[in-house]
Amino acid sequence: MSRTRVLVLFGGRSSEHSISVVSAGSVISAIDTERFEVLPVGITPEGAWVAHHGRPERMVIEDGDLPVVGPEGAPAALSLDPRVRGVWFEESDGGRRFEGIDVAFAVMHGPQGEDGAIQGLFELAGLPYVGSGILASAACMDKTVTKQILRDAGIPAGRWHSFDHDDWHSDVHTSDHVDVVDGLGWPVFVKPARAGSSMGVSKVHAPEHLGRAVTEAARHDSRIIVEASVEGAREIECGVLVGTDGRPRASVPAEIKVREGHEFYDFEAKYLDDSADLIVPAELPPGVAEAVQRMALAAFDALGCRGLARVDFFLDAAQGLVVNEVNTMPGFTPISMYPRMWQATGVTYPELIATLLADAVERP
Ligand SMILES: Nc1ncnc2c1ncn2[C@@H]1O[C@H](COP(=O)(O)OP(=O)(O)O)[C@@H](O)[C@H]1O
Ligand SMILES: [Mg+2]
Repeated sequence: MSRTRVLVLFGGRSSEHSISVVSAGSVISAIDTERFEVLPVGITPEGAWVAHHGRPERMVIEDGDLPVVGPEGAPAALSLDPRVRGVWFEESDGGRRFEGIDVAFAVMHGPQGEDGAIQGLFELAGLPYVGSGILASAACMDKTVTKQILRDAGIPAGRWHSFDHDDWHSDVHTSDHVDVVDGLGWPVFVKPARAGSSMGVSKVHAPEHLGRAVTEAARHDSRIIVEASVEGAREIECGVLVGTDGRPRASVPAEIKVREGHEFYDFEAKYLDDSADLIVPAELPPGVAEAVQRMALAAFDALGCRGLARVDFFLDAAQGLVVNEVNTMPGFTPISMYPRMWQATGVTYPELIATLLADAVERP
């Protein structure tokens, strides 16, 4: 039996470039090579597609240094002709080499990787791919759209206010926005609507600090969301995976506890200084874990996701469960929650990858 050829794409132009490289490194290391053959292609921060020859063990964060896809590899181009599924490489002698592929796995986070852009490219190319389609990817990338869809589906998504950065700066509107934000109560969280890994996220305690937080968020996206802070809440996450029977299943929930020194689960706490405890499975009162799983599946369904997602919640004494966000391509690094939650549910990392690829290939 011939092996399934998998295009593993990583890096890219989003601010989560390096996290994508680390995620892809773990995927490539863990993939079952008896069943799958990996064709790794990196995308540089400038957007160039290149053949990747580095060892996956080198795709890690070392002493705080984030890995980056360099421009050295042979230039690569995805065939957009659905009759010719694969990648063309430009060789140094001027020739071209073609590598056929059966399925694509864009282990990419953030804009252009997780927002429907690359999914659209795979659709054009007639290539099966892991994960959600164009619409669900785009909807989950944008925190305002996610919340609107969840709210319409009767799933609690908190209170928020959103606006375009341009609009914030027009004199007429700044004070209107501040008034609405004031109505949410302090503190608030200010975020880029479409980003990830806590990039551009700030917690703001008073109106006079709002401007700076908006400017910071606007470095990542022109659309800004301000959310009421769910104070003192526990952060709970739940994985959803579509099994070989085509049905979505929820993993055991897990909890993130950020230790002192971080006001919230920021970039450093996530990837650099090891200051967050990941408790897998979460210790939850009877019935609550099931409620988390039910709500995770309901959110997955409402947003039209496919393949996989990680649904992130706040669990608050007063409000109960609130969905914070839905990630259609969650982190796959060795310390990432998504693979760890599945491990705790009885699905090993290689099985998880195989299930995702099988779902992509078998999907009509
Ligand atoms: N409304 C909120 N209430 C309380 N904490 C929040 C809220 N929004 C974000 N946070 C904190 O900020 C972190 C990052 O925010 P999040 O929306 O998850 O951004 P990202 O998409 O970058 O992960 C969360 O994990 C949480 O610690
Ligand atoms: Mg998050």
